[in-house]
Amino acid sequence: MDRIVITGGARLAGEIPISGAKNSAIKLMAASLLTDQPLRLTNMPRLSDTRFMGVLLRRLGVEVEEREGEDGPETVLTTPEITSAIAPYEMVRQMRASFNVLGPLVARTGQAKVSLPGGCAIGARPVDLHLKALEALGASIDLHEGYVYAQAPRGLKGANIDFPFVSVGATEHALLTAVLARGETVISNAACEPEIVDLAQCLTKMGAAVEGAGTPVVRVVGAESLKGTAHAVVPDRIETGTYALAGAMAGGEVRLTRTRADLIEALLTKMEEAGVEVERLNDGVTVKRNGGKLNAVELTTDPYPGFATDLQAQFMALMTLADGESVIRETIFENRFMHAPELQRLGAEIAVAGGEARVKGVARLKGAQVMATDLRASVSLVIAALAAEGETTVNRVYHLDRGFERLEAKLAACGANVRRVKDDGLEM
Ligand code: EPZ
Repeated sequence: MDRIVITGGARLAGEIPISGAKNSAIKLMAASLLTDQPLRLTNMPRLSDTRFMGVLLRRLGVEVEEREGEDGPETVLTTPEITSAIAPYEMVRQMRASFNVLGPLVARTGQAKVSLPGGCAIGARPVDLHLKALEALGASIDLHEGYVYAQAPRGLKGANIDFPFVSVGATEHALLTAVLARGETVISNAACEPEIVDLAQCLTKMGAAVEGAGTPVVRVVGAESLKGTAHAVVPDRIETGTYALAGAMAGGEVRLTRTRADLIEALLTKMEEAGVEVERLNDGVTVKRNGGKLNAVELTTDPYPGFATDLQAQFMALMTLADGESVIRETIFENRFMHAPELQRLGAEIAVAGGEARVKGVARLKGAQVMATDLRASVSLVIAALAAEGETTVNRVYHLDRGFERLEAKLAACGANVRRVKDDGLEM
């Protein structure tokens, strides 16, 4: 397995272009199942998760073409017909978001068999809300041997879907399905994440009527059929926030381009509270820290526009060097502090109790061998390593490759001392 080796202490200076959002791209790719015409997605991130989604979609009958467009990487997806409506366990288990093909498959073909995703490193992550939404839209759902069998031979019908709590995936799934249901669907307590807005904009261009995306009530009027379109994937707010925190951790001045500051306002406010200088620009954000001390701040993760759970680990890395004790509360996932013991290997002082972590800032971190069990936890170790004395090796790099495009190259371009060591010992 590849490793990333970082020698800490280099200040960062330069520009980092932000890629399209992984968590939007995957759902937009699933939207290609809804039409027989080409869906052209531009600003596509090239990640193992998007490649993986391409592999699954090909099995279902989608032609997937990756190419270099005028404005960077794009993917054209065309589904003349669904050739299989089955998503097997060995695929869905590897990437939970692939479960979201269920609704589009039922909407287009009247039936589907999709594996339940199972739990994962950050929590149990059930899909009950997804299934309730599909049932409300008229699909009959049976569970056998770890598979969901969904049927709607006479098509789906618009409905009121009132989620008991906010779920990004279930909101997206409901949207992806309701656009081909007859009549009006009203989704209440919908997630407001920018990825929902992005999906809704794409579906609208495909011919559906979607109103209210980005607010808790989304109205959809389904179409008989949808058409192809071109759509640019929204910038990745988690990648933006991660590099903003990397700049703050290492010190120096980093300008993040091809992104939007408003996507990470909750983070920027906390960074300012911590003493980091932030400049919101038209096409991104600049982060500066020149030797000033970091203040400990408290934060609680929340659905958008609150502080993103996907930035919690990275913020914790920053707080390991803050002056005082910071309290971090995780409210979205029940097991999302696995980075804490790894950060402790670098010298951090962190006490975790239930959903709360208390981080007592230390004067310095020291390089060590570390590894993490999920994507955001892994990148928090990279951030910590940038400011740690000596060398840190982050193992299990495949986690990072799921969600960060050219991570080492982007950081190295700003002066970080970071390199990838291949499985065979070769450095890249
Ligand atoms: C999405 O996961 C993201 N993944 C996650 O990013 C992100 O952390 C999360 O939203 C929250 O922002 C993708 O978009 C691919 P949820 P999702 O449904 O949709 C519970 C990353 O690192 N729940 O909003 O799965 C669930 O267990 C990933 O890129 C149910 O109980 O998150 C969780 O506690 C990690 N039943 C809470 O809701 C359901 O049917 C919120 O999860 C659905 C969810």
